[in-house]
Amino acid sequence: MNYNNIYELAKSWTKEAGENLRESLKHKIEVEFKTSASDLVTKKDREIEQFFAGKISEHFPEHMILGEEGTVANQEYIFEEAQVWVIDPIDGTTNFVNQKMNFAISVAFYDQGEPIIGVIYDPMKDELFTTLKGQGAFLNGEKIEQLTAVTVEEALISLNSLWTIPNDKVDEKKVYPIVEKARGIRYIGSAALEIAWISVGRLDAYVDFRLSPWDIGAGIVLLKELGGEATTLAGEDINMKDTNTTLFSRPGLASEIRNYFN
Ligand code: IPD
Ligand code: CA
Ligand code: CA
Ligand code: CA
Repeated sequence: MNYNNIYELAKSWTKEAGENLRESLKHKIEVEFKTSASDLVTKKDREIEQFFAGKISEHFPEHMILGEEGTVANQEYIFEEAQVWVIDPIDGTTNFVNQKMNFAISVAFYDQGEPIIGVIYDPMKDELFTTLKGQGAFLNGEKIEQLTAVTVEEALISLNSLWTIPNDKVDEKKVYPIVEKARGIRYIGSAALEIAWISVGRLDAYVDFRLSPWDIGAGIVLLKELGGEATTLAGEDINMKDTNTTLFSRPGLASEIRNYFN
């Protein structure tokens, strides 16, 4: 199947949505709490998801949409049998609200479970990361080089600080030696951006313990295209119908990091 048309539209819609977000920051942001004061949603999260839903149903009425804000009603489908757009309208809503930077739009297209297209856009830096499986990965149209290996000692590792305190996913003490050994630990607060940054060498790995399909759908396509790794912390395939522990990295580094946890 030829995905070029879907790819071109995904890129152009994502840029358009990003311009909308950038403009919106000139005005007051309307914030609501979802489950707590650290779980935010804005009018823009819903509006951007609706923007994509409108475009997709106009151009591809047979396609399904999996979006964080759940604004698309009445779809029944099986992920492995459908053509699905996986969308996070704003990844890093807390950054959008508090920092007015370091957030992204993440748009992916999966065909019968297979990752095909990944688009991640940082509107404030005007950085568009794009991939169509088998055709290379690009940052603002410039080809990104294949990823090479590094060791933990040389690595900047993005780690969700929430998981360095006692939690029900992993023994937090297993994280300590990584923090000690790595060149540095970072956390941006947008899963899509952490993965996009690995693709261009600004980070080397990213460990998180509970991410949803929309956070990582596009990042998986991008990293795999560059020879990087995208698995659960245990090294299994990521389940696109559930939340997952996740480990994204340059080639090789993932197995070294996994050894600390398993
Ligand atoms: C969140 C961000 C954050 C990650 C959270 C996600 P949201 O997405 O990606 O970095 O740690 O698990 O839920 O809610 O801002 O789209
Ligand atoms: Ca959210
Ligand atoms: Ca997200
Ligand atoms: Ca979101």
